[in-house]
Amino acid sequence: MKLLQTLTRRAVFAAALLALAVQADARPFEAIKKDGKMVVATEGQFAPFNFFQGSKLTGFEVDVAEALAAKMGVKIEWKTIGFDALLTGLQQDRWDMVIASHGITDERSKAVTFADPHYCSGGVIVAKDAAIKSAKDLAGKVVAVQVGTTYLENVKKVAGVKEVKTFPQDTQSRAALQTGKVDAWVTDKFLAMTAVKEDAKFGFKIGDFLFVERIAPAVSKGNTALAGEINKAMKAIMADGTYAKISQQWFKEDIRCK
Ligand code: ARG
Repeated sequence: MKLLQTLTRRAVFAAALLALAVQADARPFEAIKKDGKMVVATEGQFAPFNFFQGSKLTGFEVDVAEALAAKMGVKIEWKTIGFDALLTGLQQDRWDMVIASHGITDERSKAVTFADPHYCSGGVIVAKDAAIKSAKDLAGKVVAVQVGTTYLENVKKVAGVKEVKTFPQDTQSRAALQTGKVDAWVTDKFLAMTAVKEDAKFGFKIGDFLFVERIAPAVSKGNTALAGEINKAMKAIMADGTYAKISQQWFKEDIRCK
């Protein structure tokens, strides 16, 4: 009886350990390669980086990820989910890679491992009033930003802002500026350039950079083998003209980090 109890306890303990291991082990590249597909998550609401054209997921980052996967010799299985859940999903090993315009920050680097940046940009101030163009002009103003972003983090640092309104999606921040619910919107520079063209009738004006950032794909913390493969593929697409072509197609310029 005693022996049985001990054995059962051991079995339970082993099962618990195994469960932990399964949960904590991100798929190394060999496993992904063997499987033939890499699971990649993005938001799908951040045009022109990642968005839906009808039911089709598309955008600069979708094309970059597909080009990386082609070099890595795997297919992509795409998942789209709210921006807030993307990095957490990596920690839970729900997907292998995230590509959703995440700026590399110290805080995020504690939770995930970033690959090399796929572009460089920053948060700009967008407003209808041309007088609102630099950080100091945000004093006394209501500013819209997407939750969980570096835009929020950086607007919080600006002294004298009257109110920061946060929205689950960046498109909602944009709508808030369109309808005059806020005085300014802080978002990505290239996204803002696209919005200004599309929303010509609203008279959006792009002000200064509030901050600049390096944007990179992320993998589960410590999955350095996968990050290494992504970096190798990134170097290859940057060297062979694939990246330049994709960037030109979406932005009419090359947005890689200089
Ligand atoms: N670059 C900003 C950040 O790092 C915003 C990213 C927003 N991405 C998105 N897919 N909505 O937080």
